[in-house]
Amino acid sequence: MEILIQAATEAREKAYAPYSRYKVGAALLGRSGKIYTGCNVENASYGATICAERAACVKAVSEGEKAFHMLAVVVDGDRPGSPCGICRQFLAEFGLDLRLILANVDGKRIECSLQDYLPGAFTPDNLNEGRDSIGLSTS
Ligand code: THU
Repeated sequence: MEILIQAATEAREKAYAPYSRYKVGAALLGRSGKIYTGCNVENASYGATICAERAACVKAVSEGEKAFHMLAVVVDGDRPGSPCGICRQFLAEFGLDLRLILANVDGKRIECSLQDYLPGAFTPDNLNEGRDSIGLSTS
C-alpha cells in the first residue's frame, strides 16, 4: 500500500494542471502485480481534461490489464481528494470491488471501496452481454 501511495505521489509531480493548479496523481495496482500510474492532464478547452485516475486506467487497459486490486489517489490540499463522477463510472467498468486509498500529501487517508462511492452503479452486468462475454472476467 505504501508503495502504491508513493507511486501516486511521484505521478502527481508530472501533472499538467496550468488552469486549476490542482495536481493529482494516481497509481493502480493490477492483478498481475504491475502498477500503472497517471496524472491529470488539462486542456485549454477545459472539458477535454483527463483526470489522473482515468489516465492510469487507460494506461493499464492499453497494456492489456483489465483487473485491479487497488487504486491510490494523491492530491495536495487539506483533505484527500475524491474521484469525480466520470472516473467512478470509468473505473466501475472493471470491477466495483476496487479498493480505493484517497490521500493527501500530508498523509491523511481515506480507505474505501469503489462500491461505496458509486452505489447502484450501471455496469457491464446491466447489459445483456455481461462481464464475461466482453472479456472482463477476473477469474
Ligand atoms: N482531477 C483529477 O485528476 N482527479 C480527481 O479525482 C478530481 C479532479 C483533476 C481534474 C482537473 O485537472 C483538476 O483535478 C481540477 O478539477
